[in-house]
Amino acid sequence: MPDTFGKSVLLLSLLLGMSGAQAASEAKLANAHGIPHPAVIAHRGASFDAPESTAAAYTLARDLGADYLEMDLQRSKDGVLFALHDNSLLRTTDVAKKFPERKNSPASAFTLAELKTLDAGSWFNQTYPDRARPSYVGLPILTLDEIIDIAQANPQHKPGLYIETKEPGQFPGIEHDLKNKLSERGWLEPVAGLNGQPQVGQGKGRVILQTFEKNSLGLLQKEMPDTPKILLLWVGEGAITPNTPLSFADSGEKDKAAYYARLQPKDQAAFMQWIDFAKANGAMGTGPSAALADGGDQSYFDLIKPWMNKATHDKGMLVHVYTLDEPVDFKKAMEAGVDGIFTNRASELLKYYQRPASHTVPQLLESNGY
Ligand code: G3P
Ligand code: CA
Repeated sequence: MPDTFGKSVLLLSLLLGMSGAQAASEAKLANAHGIPHPAVIAHRGASFDAPESTAAAYTLARDLGADYLEMDLQRSKDGVLFALHDNSLLRTTDVAKKFPERKNSPASAFTLAELKTLDAGSWFNQTYPDRARPSYVGLPILTLDEIIDIAQANPQHKPGLYIETKEPGQFPGIEHDLKNKLSERGWLEPVAGLNGQPQVGQGKGRVILQTFEKNSLGLLQKEMPDTPKILLLWVGEGAITPNTPLSFADSGEKDKAAYYARLQPKDQAAFMQWIDFAKANGAMGTGPSAALADGGDQSYFDLIKPWMNKATHDKGMLVHVYTLDEPVDFKKAMEAGVDGIFTNRASELLKYYQRPASHTVPQLLESNGY
């Protein structure tokens, strides 16, 4: 007979279309790492509703009840760790206006003081007028320290941090810098939770480290051997060997998502080579991409086929898929057996997982001053 934990896993797994026995086994594995199952990973914060990687997006994700605040870590010219997805500042800031002669320089060529002069919110209002808010104008780029402050600030809900070393080849030693910062902030050890019940951001799964780069995984493991790690999966050069050598330009496809959806690992061995590498180098799971039902610029290779998830689980590893926003994609991924989802729409994924937030997105944005 299942215990209380087993019964609740069974009930949720039936609701989500997962096989009960399989879900219970993976839930136990996640639980052993202090990671919720299934996990809600707020991709660059609640970045559907607010400018990515800003305080508006991270405070919203936190207050909705997301398990993790996801970020892409870079290092400024003067050595400060900050969150930004793109190598360039052009898409998400007004660098072209403030630093026209340096607009094409990588973000890492700017000091923190220079980065802090940029407006990382207005682009969102221009790109998504239906979700625009005057308060997004002028939002600054955030340092890792500031995101830690956000993660710690809500007494009711303390999310964890899900940190990617972004293009780590550009930042020699960033894994060591990250270890030092997390250690200085007390984030490499669990802390006491209320009544001995740590929340996600207080337990042993409070930080998950992620990278696409094999070398960075090794360095993360060396620096932080006891912190859970995920190897992100991709198909192509320097990643899983594809089933076709055709580049996008040579493929005849007009749409990049359609091109990605056609690409697959060359064979099972090509896929398993990456799973085996991940396990041998300290990862407790993988972060595969998915092909989205409606395509779009975050629709990539279908690396969550049921056999892939099963093969990963058979190695004792978890699967956190990126980046899904729609119920149709949540359903497909959960039925395929994933253990958590990166999402820009934490509010929708929480509803799908039967953990709806107690306040609406507009209510929470307004309560945080947006
Ligand atoms: O980190 C997982 C997912 O975020 C990978 O894609 O390009 O959005 O960082 P990207
Ligand atoms: Ca990322």
